[in-house]
Amino acid sequence: MKLKGQVAIITGAGRNIGEETAKLLAAEGAKIAVVDMDPGRGERVAAEIKKAGGDAKAFVADVASESDIERLVKDVVGQWGQIDILINNAAISDNKHILDITKAEWDRVIAVTLTGPFLLGKYVAKQMVAQGSPGKIVNVGSTSGFYGRKRAVAYTAAKGGVANLTRTMAVQLAPHNIRVNGVVPNKIGSPVGKDEFDPTRPVVNLRGRPGIPNDMARAILFLVSDDSDFVVGDMLFVDGGVTAMMPGD
Ligand SMILES: NC(=O)c1ccc[n+]([C@@H]2O[C@H](COP(=O)([O-])OP(=O)(O)OC[C@H]3O[C@@H](n4cnc5c(N)ncnc54)[C@H](O)[C@@H]3O)[C@@H](O)[C@H]2O)c1
Repeated sequence: MKLKGQVAIITGAGRNIGEETAKLLAAEGAKIAVVDMDPGRGERVAAEIKKAGGDAKAFVADVASESDIERLVKDVVGQWGQIDILINNAAISDNKHILDITKAEWDRVIAVTLTGPFLLGKYVAKQMVAQGSPGKIVNVGSTSGFYGRKRAVAYTAAKGGVANLTRTMAVQLAPHNIRVNGVVPNKIGSPVGKDEFDPTRPVVNLRGRPGIPNDMARAILFLVSDDSDFVVGDMLFVDGGVTAMMPGD
């Protein structure tokens, strides 16, 4: 087991990428704080982890709320005494054009998708520094954070922010032995904000198959385990090679 006894907070862990990551890290011995805004989703995942022999508890929090995050960190420390791993996974998308999006829609996407990882990063890192033990943080980015798109103006801007937030967190937290990295998914399982997996979604990557949540979970496990000890401040593309291709080639 690669994470025996370590305590991990995973946001948006109620389904898809977060759920699969929670289950894989639990199977590697970590105690999992299954954080989701939707109570039913988090409870289901925590129950499934426990049924499989792991340790998990569901916590309801909105990652965009500073008071929720302060309380969450206190509650997780109350439950297990420490925090060793943070996976900033929760995000929402807008799918809007700049000519159509409202300020309120923009604000909410930025609050959840960019400010959320900042808030979790700040309060969890404070706890890790106070503990004086090594920490690992992974921010889930998106290929949408590296390219312009016809839709999703707020989401692409937020994910661009997540990429550079990751680098700055890595620089600022390195002296405290907290290692920060990110992963960059593209078209994994169901689209962000959706439950349904569409098997007819066109596959344009170099692997010739759709990405599945376990592809992300295994990359995240690598980044929080000692196997990646010398990897810091990186955004690891887990996208089937789609961004390696020349557009239109
Ligand atoms: N699925 C993809 O194809 C894909 C592609 C690129 C990047 N990503 C990124 O991967 C991550 C996970 O994506 P997914 O498709 O698994 O998402 P999802 O929409 O399937 O699940 C996200 C979970 O987060 C929860 N959530 C939403 N807002 C929240 C909030 N404010 N506070 C707490 N929980 C909240 C939801 O209830 C849901 O259970 C996101 O960061 C996303 O941007 C996904």
